[in-house]
Amino acid sequence: MISKGLMNLIDGKKIAKEIREELKADIQKLIDDGKGVPGLAAILVGDDPASKIYVKSKGKACDEIGMRSITEEIPASISEAELLKIIESYNNNPDYHGILVQLPLPDHIDDDKIIESVSPQKDVDGFSPVSVGKLVIGKDTFRSCTPAGIQELLIRYNIDTKGKHLVVVGRSNIVGKPIANIMLQKKEHANSIVTICHSAAPDISEFTKQADILIAAIGVPEFVKADMVKDGVIVVDVGINRLEDSSKPKGYRLVGDVAFDEVAEKASYITPVPGGVGPMTIAMVLKNTYKAFINFGG
Ligand code: GUN
Repeated sequence: MISKGLMNLIDGKKIAKEIREELKADIQKLIDDGKGVPGLAAILVGDDPASKIYVKSKGKACDEIGMRSITEEIPASISEAELLKIIESYNNNPDYHGILVQLPLPDHIDDDKIIESVSPQKDVDGFSPVSVGKLVIGKDTFRSCTPAGIQELLIRYNIDTKGKHLVVVGRSNIVGKPIANIMLQKKEHANSIVTICHSAAPDISEFTKQADILIAAIGVPEFVKADMVKDGVIVVDVGINRLEDSSKPKGYRLVGDVAFDEVAEKASYITPVPGGVGPMTIAMVLKNTYKAFINFGG
């Protein structure tokens, strides 16, 4: 185990850029070979500010690597039936190989019904029951983008995961459950001993203190403190929280689910917020869209 004082920052921004550059070259090759270009359709319902930013960044990232993209901006008042029709039209549109429905959806729309309506062949978010089921039984499938991005960071920093105790804090369908399932696989770059802990634990630090690799995906600002981890821990912080800060021009600053400064003192590796896991999510949406194109025979 690496001892205190040798902390390495895991630079997600840099790795995400590397992935985008690799994909740009892959797409250029498809074009040169006359095979066409992958396309991503993003569906944004309503005007949640965070969702808007996410979808806009995704469109920009597609443009930069030469991928086709379209964003359907739909008013929050749309009926579930109308939304299902739009998704069905993209399921049948050969120019778009990936479909992403940005969550959360308005309350009158059933998220599960919408997620299930996306063709599993175009499910670049990896949210459909087909994708989730295949992941759990270890079959090749689309893996949701944030967890896939976390594994990619561990791979590119040569972090050994086999037999390591990987503790996930948080049990969401978007991060906690899929990252646990990915890292549990009896495969290269996984094969970890996985624990998922969550808000029902009487003392969550009982679990976090055991982690060789700690994935924090709770959604509580600076929840993980230095006294909750052991020396040499590898920390992946999935949280993006706004904390009021009048000294900042925007009146807030972004913090993760980990108290960065104090935990970094004990960690051998740690992801920052921002610039850690966040940029990886978009890079993996692009990677999944490329994969969808290839699966379609591109
Ligand atoms: N909302 C929060 N994270 C995500 C994500 O990864 N994909 C989609 N579609 N919606 C989200």
